[in-house]
Amino acid sequence: MSVDIKQLKSIIRKAGELIRNVRLSPEQINSKDNRLDFVTKFDVEVQNFLESRFLENWPDYLFIGEEQEEHKFGQKGFIVDPIDGTTNFILGIPHHCISVAVMEEGKIVQGVVYCPALDEMYWAAAGEGAYLNAERLQNPDLPFNETVCGIGSSPYNAGLREPTVNMISEIMKRSDIRCLGSSALDVCYVASGRQGGYFEYEISPWDIAAGMLIAREAGATVTTIDGKEPPLDRNLTILAAGPGIYSEFQEILGF
Ligand code: IPD
Ligand code: CA
Repeated sequence: MSVDIKQLKSIIRKAGELIRNVRLSPEQINSKDNRLDFVTKFDVEVQNFLESRFLENWPDYLFIGEEQEEHKFGQKGFIVDPIDGTTNFILGIPHHCISVAVMEEGKIVQGVVYCPALDEMYWAAAGEGAYLNAERLQNPDLPFNETVCGIGSSPYNAGLREPTVNMISEIMKRSDIRCLGSSALDVCYVASGRQGGYFEYEISPWDIAAGMLIAREAGATVTTIDGKEPPLDRNLTILAAGPGIYSEFQEILGF
């Protein structure tokens, strides 16, 4: 049975209640391999909640969640980040979200990104447009000097620091920088025009799978940093922007 987006949104809204107004205690926070990469009790709780509701309603879909020990990718399933912006969540910064993409035949067909603190739900269905709550979204295609450009958080991989700094320096010649700390929301902010563009040199599929569809349905362009279709089964680079800024990025990056 295919996924009913109304029902999907309602389950995700309920999951949002699990993390609204939470105050974490130190024993609820754990570090992953990298000391700046955290997981909390709530990442796991939200993931478990979504997994059980999704599989009970749509048992023929795979469930791929960030906090699983092993990721089994396929052609048909849910790609889930239970909390994107975990560091913000830990610090009490309300800019974090739940991100859910629905994949069929290897393509994202529905995407929902929900920020519980602001009760903002970005969502899209392929060919049917993108929305923020009930409002239809259209990327305003602003030039660099009339907007800001988002960048990912400091890369965990030290080898990516230099290319990241080089890109920041190119952008600073043309625009203002923002580093908001949730790539799912970064891509949605490109959809709505809160940011003109966003790039990051290494992210995971669950960080952007839903936002990618939302931004594209709003008329923005989303590719890897060398202009290719983003893969959904491994780490990747990402570049999202309105058409005008995207072509300037092409000049900067030479593809
Ligand atoms: C992180 C955030 C951050 C991005 C990192 C991601 P997480 O996701 O989206 O903005 O720069 O690359 O790993 O760890 O909070 O789910
Ligand atoms: Ca996460």
